[in-house]
Amino acid sequence: MENLPTGVEGLDLLLDGGYPKGKSILVTGPPGTGKTILGLHFLHRSCLDGRKCILVLTRELSEDILAQARSLKLDLDPFLENGQLSIRNIFEDKINKIKSVSKFGKGLSAVDTDIIEYLSSMSSEVDVVVIDNIGVMAINHDMREFADKFSSISIILLKNGCTSLFIMDVDSYNMTQKLTGYMVFGLVRLITQENFSSGKTKQYLYIEKMRNTPVPVKYSLFDITSHGIRVISGMK
Ligand SMILES: Nc1ncnc2c1ncn2[C@@H]1O[C@H](COP(=O)(O)OP(=O)(O)OP(=O)(O)O)[C@@H](O)[C@H]1O
Ligand SMILES: [Mg+2]
Repeated sequence: MENLPTGVEGLDLLLDGGYPKGKSILVTGPPGTGKTILGLHFLHRSCLDGRKCILVLTRELSEDILAQARSLKLDLDPFLENGQLSIRNIFEDKINKIKSVSKFGKGLSAVDTDIIEYLSSMSSEVDVVVIDNIGVMAINHDMREFADKFSSISIILLKNGCTSLFIMDVDSYNMTQKLTGYMVFGLVRLITQENFSSGKTKQYLYIEKMRNTPVPVKYSLFDITSHGIRVISGMK
């Protein structure tokens, strides 16, 4: 199986070279654990390798994410300019639609933008898709609707041969009764262990599953530096 480099050297070593090509990986974890940064690494590496990438944002402003990438030396601006990277911001679209429809007195239901519609119409040349954060779908829909939507997105991406990262906050992940974990090829969890007496925290990257990939070490200690995520060591 061919793998795509994750952009994090230590993680590539754990994953036999990177994320399995053409498959979907779910990344989950509490706030501030590095999920978005993991996505930025993958986009930056993939763009450097000449791949065509899409970033779908549902909760943050594009400018904030781009500034975060710059601050971590994972600058994505050149790839936006040369067209290798496209950003679709569902969150900003919603804000703009709310502004315009509120003038006509319509409710929020009229502004529900659909990730599925967007992905259905994407070019077959797209290699890499990062969705940050897909957890919003868990809030807007009941469990059956959510499962339907999630599997539709997975199938579209699979058929298109995209290697995809679904970023999902841990609360939405738990709210969906971890259903998404079964529906993806790989599952990576970012975990923070706090020691209140020493005041120190430890961050672990836990590769809970990666089908068809031998994973030598499941838990690895990592930290976030000015150059992003750095895997320090692993334990079996
Ligand atoms: N330059 C840096 N040096 C050290 N740590 C940094 C740096 N930039 C960001 N961080 C750390 O990374 C964390 C943010 O990571 P990230 O944005 O990937 O989190 P997240 O899991 O996506 O959070 P959320 O669920 O809120 O979106 C911050 O809490 C901060 O501590
Ligand atoms: Mg984030």
